[in-house]
Amino acid sequence: MAVLTGKIAVVTGGSSGIGLAIARAFRDEGAKVFITGRRKEALDEALVELGADVTAVVCDSAVPADLDVLYETVREQAGHVDIVVANAGIGIQTTFGEVTEEQVDALLATNVKGTVFTVQKALPLLRSGASVILTGSSAATRPPHGLEIYAATKAAVRNLARGWAHSSRQHGFRVNVLSPGTVPTPGLLDLLPAEAREQSEEATPLGRLGTPEEIAAAATFLASNASSYVNGSELAVDGGAAQI
Ligand SMILES: NC(=O)c1ccc[n+]([C@@H]2O[C@H](COP(=O)([O-])OP(=O)(O)OC[C@H]3O[C@@H](n4cnc5c(N)ncnc54)[C@H](OP(=O)(O)O)[C@@H]3O)[C@@H](O)[C@H]2O)c1
Repeated sequence: MAVLTGKIAVVTGGSSGIGLAIARAFRDEGAKVFITGRRKEALDEALVELGADVTAVVCDSAVPADLDVLYETVREQAGHVDIVVANAGIGIQTTFGEVTEEQVDALLATNVKGTVFTVQKALPLLRSGASVILTGSSAATRPPHGLEIYAATKAAVRNLARGWAHSSRQHGFRVNVLSPGTVPTPGLLDLLPAEAREQSEEATPLGRLGTPEEIAAAATFLASNASSYVNGSELAVDGGAAQI
C-alpha cells in the first residue's frame, strides 16, 4: 500500500540527483509533490519525467523572497504541507589556505541560510504531525580533505535538527536529518574527480557508492508514519562510511 497517499510534500533541489529521486519516490507513494531549483530548464526536464501531477517552482533557497513565492504557490494549490525536505545544497572544493569569502558565503547561503528559511517559512502551512527532513551529509562527521567548509555547513544542518526538535510540540512536527554518503549525482560528479570517488568507494564498508534511490527510500521512511516516533535524529545512509 502507498505510504504517503494524500500527503503534500515540498522537496527543494528536486530537479536533480537525490532530490529528484526523493520526488519520484514520494510521487510513487501517493504524495502530491512540489519541487524547486534555480534553473527552470532543469525543472522542466524533471517534470517531463515526473509528470503533470508534480509542480515545479523556480526558487533559490538562498533568497528568502523566493521561498515566499514557493509557499504561496503551495498554499494556493494545496492549502497545507505534510512533508518538507530541505534538500537543496551545493558543494565547493576549497584548499585550506586559499578559501575565498565568496566560497564561504555561497556555501553558507544555500546550505545553512537556505535550510533555515525553507523550514521557518513552511511553519504556517505545516499540518499537525508533519515530517521535516534536512539533507545532511556523512561529511559532517568525516570531513573530506578539501570539503571542510561544506562539511561545516552540514554539521550546522545536523545541529539545526537537534535544536528544532525542541519545537516539535509547539509546531506539531518532527524533524530529522538524512545523511547520505557518496552518491553519484550530477552535483557529485562535478565536485569529486574519479580518483576521489574510487577512494570513497574503497573507504565504504559496503564496498560501493550509494544510489539516489537508496537515499530516497530512507527519505520515504522518514516522511511516512512508519517513523512517527523518530525525531531529532540523524539517519545515516552511507554504507557505513561515517559509522566506523
Ligand atoms: N551526492 C552526494 O554524494 C551527497 C552526499 C551527501 C550529501 N549530499 C547532499 O544532497 C543534496 C542533493 O545533492 P545532489 O548530490 O543530489 O546534488 P545535485 O545533483 O547537484 O542536485 C542539487 C539540486 O539542488 C538544487 N539547488 C542547488 N542550489 C540551490 C539553491 N540555492 N536553491 C534551490 N535549489 C538549489 C539544484 O538545482 P539548481 O542547480 O537548478 O538550483 C538541484 O536540483 C545536497 O544537499 C547535498 O549536499 C549529496
